[in-house]
Amino acid sequence: MNVVLLGPPGAGKGTQAVKLARTLGLLHLSSGDILRAERQAKTQLGRQAQDFMDRGVLVPDDVILTMMMDHISRPEASGGFLLDGFPRTVAQAEGLDERLARKGARIDIVANMVVEDADVTRRLTGRWSCPVDGRIYHEIYSPPKAAGRCDDCGAALSRRKDDEPDVVRQRLRTYHEETEPLEAYYKARGVLESIDASGTVEEVTDSLQRVCRAR
Ligand code: AP5
Ligand code: MG
Repeated sequence: MNVVLLGPPGAGKGTQAVKLARTLGLLHLSSGDILRAERQAKTQLGRQAQDFMDRGVLVPDDVILTMMMDHISRPEASGGFLLDGFPRTVAQAEGLDERLARKGARIDIVANMVVEDADVTRRLTGRWSCPVDGRIYHEIYSPPKAAGRCDDCGAALSRRKDDEPDVVRQRLRTYHEETEPLEAYYKARGVLESIDASGTVEEVTDSLQRVCRAR
C-alpha cells in the first residue's frame, strides 16, 4: 500500500507517520526531513533548498520531484511507502502519478489531516525535535521526560528555524494557496479520506489507522 499524509504545517504528519509506518509496515519518506538532512550534509541540493525553507515557501517542483522519486525508487520502498509533506502542489501530484504509473504503481490512499490554523500555530511554536534521531516533542502536549533532552538518545533538543511566528504565518499562506487544491485533485481520483486531526495524538492515530485499514 502507498499512502500520502496531507495536511497543513503542524498537523502532526511527522508525529503520526512514524507510528503509522510502523504498524502498516511502510517506508516513511518525509520531504522536509530529507531536505533538512541534505542541508546538514551541505550538499548542493541542501544549499539550493535552504533559502526557500527559511522563508517558508516551497522548493521548486522539479527539484522535489527528482529528490522524492530517487527515494521512492529504492528497494526499501518496494513493500509500500508513506509520504509525508509530498506532494504539495498539483504539479507535484501529477508528476508523481505519471512516474508511478510507469512502474505499474499508484497512490492508494490520501489521508487529509484537517486542523485549524490557530491549533497548528500553537503546536508549531511549542515544538522541539531531536537533531539526532528526529523524534518530535511539544513542550505542553508531548513533553520529553527530562527537560530539553531526547527520551531515546539523550541529545539536546532543538527548535526548527522555520517555527518562528512570521515564518509559520507564511507557511500557512503557502499551504492554503498551493497545497489545499490537492484535496480536490485526490477527491476526483477517489482516494481522499479526510480525518479530524484536532484531537489528541492518540485520537488522531486511531482515526488514521481506521481509514487505512478500511482500504
Ligand atoms: P516540512 O518539514 O514538511 O514541514 P511542514 O509540512 O510545514 O510540516 P511540519 O513538519 O512543520 O509539521 P507536521 O505536520 O509534520 O507536524 P509534527 O508532527 O511535527 O517542510 C519544511 C519546508 O521544506 C517547507 O516549508 C518547504 O520549504 C520545504 N518542503 C518540504 N516538502 C516540500 C515539497 N513537497 N515541495 C516543496 N517544498 C517542500 O507536529 C507539530 C507539533 O505538534 C509537534 O510539537 C508535535 O509534538 C505536536 N503535535 C502533533 N500532533 C499533535 C496533536 N494531535 N495534539 C497536540 N500536539 C500535537
Ligand atoms: Mg513534519
